[in-house]
Amino acid sequence: MTVICRLLGVPQEDEPRFHGWADTLAASPDPDPDADPAEKPKAAADAQMELGMYLAGLIEERRKNPGEDMLSRLAALSEEPDGAMSTREVVSTAALLLIAGHETTVNLITNGMLTLLRHPDVLQRLREDPQLSVPIVEELLRYEPPVQLLPRRSTLDDIEVAGVHIPKGATVSLILASGNRDPKRFEDPDRFDPDRKDIQHLGLGSGIHSCFGAPLARQEAQLALSELARRLENPRLLEDPPPYRRNAVLRGPRHLPIACDAIRAS
Ligand code: HEM
Repeated sequence: MTVICRLLGVPQEDEPRFHGWADTLAASPDPDPDADPAEKPKAAADAQMELGMYLAGLIEERRKNPGEDMLSRLAALSEEPDGAMSTREVVSTAALLLIAGHETTVNLITNGMLTLLRHPDVLQRLREDPQLSVPIVEELLRYEPPVQLLPRRSTLDDIEVAGVHIPKGATVSLILASGNRDPKRFEDPDRFDPDRKDIQHLGLGSGIHSCFGAPLARQEAQLALSELARRLENPRLLEDPPPYRRNAVLRGPRHLPIACDAIRAS
């Protein structure tokens, strides 16, 4: 959240408010049998409105006093005579970056730490060689992808997949997590193995709509995991499996309780 706020140019003192809105919006698709069914959509709609109003105010401010941040650049674009981007489009683009870039990266880091704690040999190798975070993160995007499926896509043409005819205009869901563990594509797909020679996964999508934030997501996860490996002395899982969020699209633990003997200074 801090990284995306800094890129956009959200003042540091407002970051906690962003956190609240992003958490409410990310939790809104999770079913909760104990909650009032009307409560969550209302909380999400309120968060969306507050976030939109806040961003519109900030764009207005950046138009008057531009800085080096992304919102200032986007606000300048919306001033151009051909109307490259309306204020509304800048608001929704900024909100998209915030939502798309927050929960997903949090889950990659959490799924990653969980997987490393279940594979202490790999954790030890990462501690000795931080560069190993690069293949580890790629294998994590295959093995424990934070985005499990892409719902509600429609086919542009009649196609045939594995002997099944899918007509033009049909609504389909693409289960990325399943493709990532296709035994015809990956040898021993249920094994976490950062030494795989060919990790061309679907964790960040594929084609023209593949993840726009992929380089940032990769770098954040590589840094977080290598620092956690370096700084936590003898880390241990306190609960395995940890409590998971109830969400079919975004996979990740709600919390990851761990213990360790000490935390090394940064
Ligand atoms: C580990 C973290 C992330 C994962 C697993 C992830 C996953 C994905 C996936 C699977 C898609 C493809 C969606 C589709 O085909 O419809 C996507 C698209 C997208 N992602 Fe990410 N993402 C991550 C981080 C980020 C970050 C950090 C940002 C922004 C700073 C971001 C911004 C976007 C945007 C804007 C799109 C839409 C691209 C388009 O439709 O052309 N993502 N992401």
